[in-house]
Amino acid sequence: MSDTLTPTAERQASLQWSDALVLELDFMDDTHKEFVDLLAQTETAEDADLLDRFTALIDHTDDHFGREDRWMENTRFSASHCHSMQHNVVLQVMREGLRRGRDDNDLKLVRELARELGIWFPQHAQTMDAALALHLRRVGYDAATGIVHQPDALTEDDIHGCGGATCA
Ligand SMILES: [Fe+2]
Ligand SMILES: [Fe+2]
Repeated sequence: MSDTLTPTAERQASLQWSDALVLELDFMDDTHKEFVDLLAQTETAEDADLLDRFTALIDHTDDHFGREDRWMENTRFSASHCHSMQHNVVLQVMREGLRRGRDDNDLKLVRELARELGIWFPQHAQTMDAALALHLRRVGYDAATGIVHQPDALTEDDIHGCGGATCA
């Protein structure tokens, strides 16, 4: 059993879904619940399944970030640049971790990365995603159709910065 390779303590999910992560925008919250679930599946995976689980998390995250980037573009969200940049950096780090996991069989690195993602995600959700959710609600954005129901709100550049510590 691979249990002997990775101590059980290192196979516990570091992040659980909770009210603190709810942004009151169903189409965003649903995706975030899936992220938390896939991250937990990665962290609790046995060594033999770890890279497959992490690959599934990366594929989902690629889609998750891509959708948020599109919503920002569609609604002229003023903080889109730094938010999308953080998405790109995180995806790059995840892909590099997967490469090291595959090429160097460095499963420890992948597990550390997953744990770091469990720390990073609530911060991102509660700052950048929360600001985006507020903006999308304000402009009445329908993610299914791409329709902005309050187009008047688009002309107001009323969200400055992205809520993150790195952007003014
Ligand atoms: Fe998100
Ligand atoms: Fe985001």
